[in-house]
Amino acid sequence: MKKPKLAVLVSGRGSNLQAIIDNIEKGTLSAELAVVISDQADAYALERARKHNIPAVHVSAKGFKGKRDDYDALLVKELRKRNVELICLAGFMRIITPTLIKAFPNRILNIHPSLLPAFPGLHVQKKAIDHGAKFSGCTVHFVDEGMDTGPIIIQAVVPVLDNDTEDSLSERILKQEHKIYSRAIQLFAEGKLKVEGRRVILADGKQSTDEFLINP
Ligand code: GRF
Repeated sequence: MKKPKLAVLVSGRGSNLQAIIDNIEKGTLSAELAVVISDQADAYALERARKHNIPAVHVSAKGFKGKRDDYDALLVKELRKRNVELICLAGFMRIITPTLIKAFPNRILNIHPSLLPAFPGLHVQKKAIDHGAKFSGCTVHFVDEGMDTGPIIIQAVVPVLDNDTEDSLSERILKQEHKIYSRAIQLFAEGKLKVEGRRVILADGKQSTDEFLINP
């Protein structure tokens, strides 16, 4: 099986990136990490990439205020140059535009720290607690032109405890993020993800999420 060439787009600490790198190195994820791109020069994620000899590129957003399409065109150029086949957003703090989405249709994934469609957007762990949700979790989905609205690939569920803080819930969710992101990428790599309208069906008819049902 040919390994897909991956790009991971980041803005910050890069713990999801690290989980992807570790799973590739362990051999449980069969992909080639072609490049890590950050809009922030000082993102720790870039350092993580360099430590593993993965090309780490800062694409500065300076001068692109109000010109998000132009910035994304620059990203497309960088991604094409490296023959990237799958883009994984992992804490990339920019809204991406149709310029990028149309260049990679059904080839952009995102990880989001809630059970979508509940709590799209930012600070969603706090929102889940404040709302009184009893369960939250994380979602890997294809990226479409909406905000956290694309077809859902995998979700993992965690309980929200009475004494949870934003930090404690975020940490519980993050542990699951690190598992399901690689799992979703592996399913993509195996050619198993079929998008039918809003639904993502596993080509081999298996359920993708049983193993992530509830994670204390
Ligand atoms: C994660 O919680 C992810 O779900 C969200 O941004 C955070 C990134 O964390 N999209 P990290 O940079 O991967 O540690």
